[in-house]
Amino acid sequence: MTFTQQDARPELESAPGSEWWRTAVIYQIYPRSFADASGDGLGDLPGVTAHLDDLADLGVDAIWLSPFQRSPQKDAGYDVADYRDVDPIFGSLADFDAMLAGAHDRGIRVIVDLVPNHSSDQHVWFQEALKAAPGSPERARYIFRDGRGDNGELPPNNWESVFGGGMWKRVTEADGTPGQWYLHIFDESQPDFDWTNPEVRAEFESILRFWLDRGVDGFRVDVAHGLIKAAGLPDYTPDPEGGSMGGDADEVPYWGQPGVHDVWREWHEVLAAYDGDRALCAEAWLPTVAQTALWVRSDEMHQAFNFHYLETKWDAEALRAVIEESLDEYGAVGAPSTWVLSNHDVVRHASRLALTADNPQGAGIGPKSPGKPDPVKGLHRARAATSLMLALPGSSYLYQGEELGLPEVIDLPDDARQDPTWFRTEGERYGRDGCRVPIPWTADAPAYGFNETGAAWLPQPAEWAELARDVQREDPASTLSLYRSLLAERRARGLGSGSLEWLDGYGDDVVAFRNGSITVVANLGSESVALPAVEILVASGPLEGDALPTDTTVWIAAA
Ligand code: NOJ
Repeated sequence: MTFTQQDARPELESAPGSEWWRTAVIYQIYPRSFADASGDGLGDLPGVTAHLDDLADLGVDAIWLSPFQRSPQKDAGYDVADYRDVDPIFGSLADFDAMLAGAHDRGIRVIVDLVPNHSSDQHVWFQEALKAAPGSPERARYIFRDGRGDNGELPPNNWESVFGGGMWKRVTEADGTPGQWYLHIFDESQPDFDWTNPEVRAEFESILRFWLDRGVDGFRVDVAHGLIKAAGLPDYTPDPEGGSMGGDADEVPYWGQPGVHDVWREWHEVLAAYDGDRALCAEAWLPTVAQTALWVRSDEMHQAFNFHYLETKWDAEALRAVIEESLDEYGAVGAPSTWVLSNHDVVRHASRLALTADNPQGAGIGPKSPGKPDPVKGLHRARAATSLMLALPGSSYLYQGEELGLPEVIDLPDDARQDPTWFRTEGERYGRDGCRVPIPWTADAPAYGFNETGAAWLPQPAEWAELARDVQREDPASTLSLYRSLLAERRARGLGSGSLEWLDGYGDDVVAFRNGSITVVANLGSESVALPAVEILVASGPLEGDALPTDTTVWIAAA
């Protein structure tokens, strides 16, 4: 029997208001660190395919793959040289199709990463731009400007790259003279496109269709807040309190400009022409929940990452506030709230929630960082935090390895680090490698089962043997078993499409709410809390008789 991707697609359409992305648990795969079938030390798409049963067993609804398209890998694939091909280190388009079919066969949707703000400097368009003259159509696809100063020797403005250093690089013109400058919000190998250029817009619509035609269920849109820059590119000095990806309190001329919404409206139409409730999810780091909700108005994107939730400290009052605000603001535009605690850009939450010093996004933690976390406390809190999150109505994102309780790897040797942040800040910021270490599958195997050769692009800590999936699979008290129970209960009880009702009476340091048939009680305080004598459905850690210890969450049958 032959079948097409369309045939294999899980439940094609849903009634408006009950589309899959409103309630889905979406598992982020960072392909280079997930599973390595080729054995070269970098994960790949056949590695993903080989582990789809593990993901089905975990109980996720969808996967999101970080970039696997052709790329020189200067920023781990977020520097794309060809948007319509798979990088050979990850496999081939045929491997992608096999992975997609395998996921759909198991009822798992697939979202791919799309990087529209910038390309790689190896992209054919950028190479053409370098060869072309100032003012040419080739240069107009990117943001080239003359420099300031008598001889154009100063950058066009004072903007600072997210990864450290300046945001402009000067080129040498074809005749060998020092020439114009181009803008790169990130590394100099990642030139920004000019999204006011219709040619750029048309190209990305075509790229969307390329992957939609292959059968993907949607896109995670990288740097969705960065595409449009303020007219005139006015000087701006970043807010030291903002994270590196954005979130400054002030208006920033390269983040969150209103013109981006036209792009999302165009993309919405492209997706709407396909069947199967395809979805767009914005990676947009913005100052407020209310601003982020504008990204998901009914004719724009479908979801946006809730980084305000991710960045909330382990504090009951703060959590109640951000949950309420998120449900209100996203609800007001008819969108689901999403929830997320970890991804490939932030310190893993099994470490982050126990940090004792400030750690802005992108800084990472390393051997010399202040405020290193207590790993036991971190894991307790992570399990409690996830148990709280997965009970919330809306859609949740998980990051590979969090289901194993993996901590941030703090003591990576300097010479192993690969994040451009580390190089561009000359080691001042450790960057994001600590959350990107290849994950362990099998305790007694080379590279803990990441592959069969033992090679790994970042070294794995020895302690990870006991966190390997095969060990946790057998242990009912493991973090993996906890995640499986939470996901099974969540699905069986329809929590994603439920609603939240706050419960009083547990004290200020407790987050307590009801969602449908469950009551959730999370104790963030330092004292144990008495629980009603009812059936415990899931507990994030051991209970003390009828009492809920600190840093523990329970789901109990609602009265
Ligand atoms: C956000 C991605 O998540 C991050 O990993 C990447 O470095 C930047 N965007 C640049 O594409």
